[in-house]
Amino acid sequence: EVPGFVDTLISRMTLEEKAGQLSLMASAWGGGKAAALNPPSNSNFPQQVEEARRGQLTGVFNGNGARMARIMQNAAVKESRLKIPLIFAADIIHGHRTIFPVPLAEVASFEPDLARRTAEVAAFEAAGAGIDWNFAPMVDVARDQRWGRGVEGGGEDPLLGGLFAAARVKGFQGPNLRSNEHFLACVKHFAAYGAAESGLDYNTVDMSERTLREVYLKTYKDAFDAGALSAMASFNEISGVPATGNHWLLTDVLRGEWGFEGFVVSDYTGDEEMIKHGYAKDGRDAARLAFLAGVDMSMQSGLYRQYLPDLVRSGEVPEETLNTSVRRVLAMKAMLGLFDNPFGRIDEKREQARSLLPRNRAIARESGRKSIVLLKNDGDLLPLPKSGKKIALIGPFASGQHDLVGPWVVYGSDDNSVDLATGVRAAVSDKNSIIIAEGSGVETVIPGGIEQAVAAAQQADIVVLAIGEAQNMSGEAQSRADITVPKPQQELAEAIAKTGKPIVVVLKNGRGLALDGAVANAPAILVTWFLGTETGNSIADVLFGAYSPSGRLPLSFPRLAGQQPYYYAHKPTGRPNPDPKLDEYKAHFRGITNTALYPFGHGLTYGKIEYSEFALSAPTLSGSGEIAVSARITNRGTRAAEEVVQLYTHDRVASVTRPVREMKAFRKIKLEPGQSEVVRFVLRPSDLSFYGLQNKPIVEPGRFDVWIAPSAEAPGVGGSFDLAA
Ligand code: IFM
Repeated sequence: EVPGFVDTLISRMTLEEKAGQLSLMASAWGGGKAAALNPPSNSNFPQQVEEARRGQLTGVFNGNGARMARIMQNAAVKESRLKIPLIFAADIIHGHRTIFPVPLAEVASFEPDLARRTAEVAAFEAAGAGIDWNFAPMVDVARDQRWGRGVEGGGEDPLLGGLFAAARVKGFQGPNLRSNEHFLACVKHFAAYGAAESGLDYNTVDMSERTLREVYLKTYKDAFDAGALSAMASFNEISGVPATGNHWLLTDVLRGEWGFEGFVVSDYTGDEEMIKHGYAKDGRDAARLAFLAGVDMSMQSGLYRQYLPDLVRSGEVPEETLNTSVRRVLAMKAMLGLFDNPFGRIDEKREQARSLLPRNRAIARESGRKSIVLLKNDGDLLPLPKSGKKIALIGPFASGQHDLVGPWVVYGSDDNSVDLATGVRAAVSDKNSIIIAEGSGVETVIPGGIEQAVAAAQQADIVVLAIGEAQNMSGEAQSRADITVPKPQQELAEAIAKTGKPIVVVLKNGRGLALDGAVANAPAILVTWFLGTETGNSIADVLFGAYSPSGRLPLSFPRLAGQQPYYYAHKPTGRPNPDPKLDEYKAHFRGITNTALYPFGHGLTYGKIEYSEFALSAPTLSGSGEIAVSARITNRGTRAAEEVVQLYTHDRVASVTRPVREMKAFRKIKLEPGQSEVVRFVLRPSDLSFYGLQNKPIVEPGRFDVWIAPSAEAPGVGGSFDLAA
């Protein structure tokens, strides 16, 4: 619904004012230090306020909180010719002041509703601090662990990623976009940014339209279906055409096929980058190509305000197309309540009052512990006793206010966060039973560090080894060619292992890592990602058994970096056999088995979970019917557990080859010791559809294998059925 006044306004606008409504800039008073009272003396903030006054800006992003927004909004709505309000955007990727686990971590919970709840808190804090528009969720499917930005997304599986994408959109936008507790979501990066060749950020994407649609476009579609009303074009090219200049993608698919009615923004100078891609001649050409392809708003390059008026005057861009984009943007500002109440979200007192509330932190702690994945627990080393044992906390992440919030945080801070040592000390009965030693830097050797750490281990009964990646090792532009634990830390682990003390590895990571040596061989391994404000408390909850781990890997941990891209839903090949010992002339790598070290979906609990009694409701699924697939899940252990029961299928013969397994559904169930439950899934023919040779979803009859399993590569229990014509 476009309110009537929008067209009246458009009829009064100059071409320059129209181009201004399509031009977004990074805030000149940025940096996220919302408490700062004045912009730095050398900043361009006064000039930016003047641009707002002249109608040359639609809004700014990643600014300095409510005070900055108030000054700029005043200039726009009181001093500009047409009094059009600005829109304030920001990257609230995993929390505003209260920082939640990185998005990838939260997907490990396999609880989309948890992500809805944390997104809701993020919106409550951020919208309360003057932010109208969030550059999230990032929903790019990522199957190559070298790529640094997988940490912002939903992992390797389109079904799981799509559920989280939709949940986050709902949490951000809420039921009412006018509310000062919610803001506009921006689905990014459209499209297939996560499929960059060799995991190199910004790199080329080249793939079949079928794979693009089936694997990569699904999560964006799910986010739009959940109501997201803005999208960000991605930096990459897709099969020869940059996404930012891709009419097929941004107009034919997004608007034509999917009926998207919101607006599209380019990613930071993405339009201008089409020159370096070799697609646009110069800035003017880039503005024309991006605009005509379907990018309504230009971020940061300034190309639209520089060239669009002239492109219209010369007839290269129809004025009606310009009006359409302006209408979309103004309609969105109206939906956000900005015309009625331009200061509705801007409130300096509320900015403070909503920040880091105990209930916000409680959700961060809950979300943190649900994001942790227990990879391994030999001899039931975990949970640790709360008393009676000396524990050495060793490693660069054992203590200190660093690397807690994780990548992509504009307004949160490590200073407000709980480190591992603090969380552990709060959980044990005798604080003196904890010994701390850094041992090594993240990527550097500390002289004498290993010796000190070994001495600490020798005094202790158990070692908790907190190692992995620093927060700047994943995220934008942080691709790694080598995805192992950095060498100085690996050496630390080898030295500690020689002491013979039992080791619990607490891994900090923004991607799936290729674990090796003493790290891989430690009896217990917890994947703790970057958990945010409540890091130490969340980890301690799991370490000492206040919470039985329930997280599952949202991506595969490979054996070696050279397996990348490795993902569970790969195709079989004509010579399928990952094990080189079995047959030389089959698909394998020399010297390693080409399976995951820990596959997608893997994660242990403190229970002992058994899968049995697989059953199908019928031998055949009729073309219009459904089939029930069930199994009994039993907890034979002595501790309660939450199990993520997963349903996978494989289509044996099809007109387009199908992956070895595809997840079709999952359910998280709680089982007390000794308790069992029959978990029942229902499959319909549409669940078995795929993109056929014409790039359209089709359903083909045939035989399907089906498994109910605890991970993508575990046998679980299973059978097969026919899908009838
Ligand atoms: O939202 C981000 C995007 O993910 C990467 N480039 C910059 C944008 C704005 O900060």
